Amino acid sequence: MLKGFVFDLDGVITDTARFHYQAWSKIAQDDMGITINPSVNEQLKGVSRMDSLNVILKFGQRENDFTEAEKEALATKKNDYYVQLISNMTPADILPGIQAFLDQLKAEGYQMSLASASKNAPRILNGLQLTNYFDQIVDPASLHAGKPDPEIFAKGATLLGLKPTEAVGLEDAFAGIQSINGAGEFSVGIGDPAILNEADLNFTSTAEISLDQIKTAFATWAAKQ
Ligand code: G6P
Ligand code: MG
Repeated sequence: MLKGFVFDLDGVITDTARFHYQAWSKIAQDDMGITINPSVNEQLKGVSRMDSLNVILKFGQRENDFTEAEKEALATKKNDYYVQLISNMTPADILPGIQAFLDQLKAEGYQMSLASASKNAPRILNGLQLTNYFDQIVDPASLHAGKPDPEIFAKGATLLGLKPTEAVGLEDAFAGIQSINGAGEFSVGIGDPAILNEADLNFTSTAEISLDQIKTAFATWAAKQ
């Protein structure tokens, strides 16, 4: 029986990828002499702060040029700038269709948790005024491995007291869909179905999300589990 929903944040609830990109672009340019581009940005989605830095250093062929302490300082500097950029987020930054979807889930008594790799997730939910919708938030600092490892989505369900087969996971990144599937939950992809081709159900954008369609597809899927 469907009892709860585990949400990714960036690209599902709001679009913070542009702020991550802006902050990393500046730090990469100013402090590492690396010019990043949108295709590097794609590789940063869903990836932790330190792993993002490593992706950028590898792209710039500078992976051996900084000590761990210097890398910590670069990550902190990026975050300080990023926090400035997200400090003015408001409910106007919620992606289309999401507020209505969350209201419907709440009205129908579903539990909700957040499975984001971002340590800034609580701050972002506050700005969006969505904190009260979420019964649990997975603490990314508590994880051993990031997406595509199943751990974060598995935790998103267990924190709600749910079995994997009672939960739906929502993601816009391929690595996130792999995490949901690996956790044994029903996966809903938001975005290009050719990219998210392992999702159990796909919507091309948040504006298309339909709880009725999820319920129908979930029932068919659950019968086979
Ligand atoms: C999300 C974003 C990533 C980001 C990660 C960590 O998963 O998609 O681009 O690197 O969170 O975010 P943080 O706010 O902790 O630096
Ligand atoms: Mg995402």
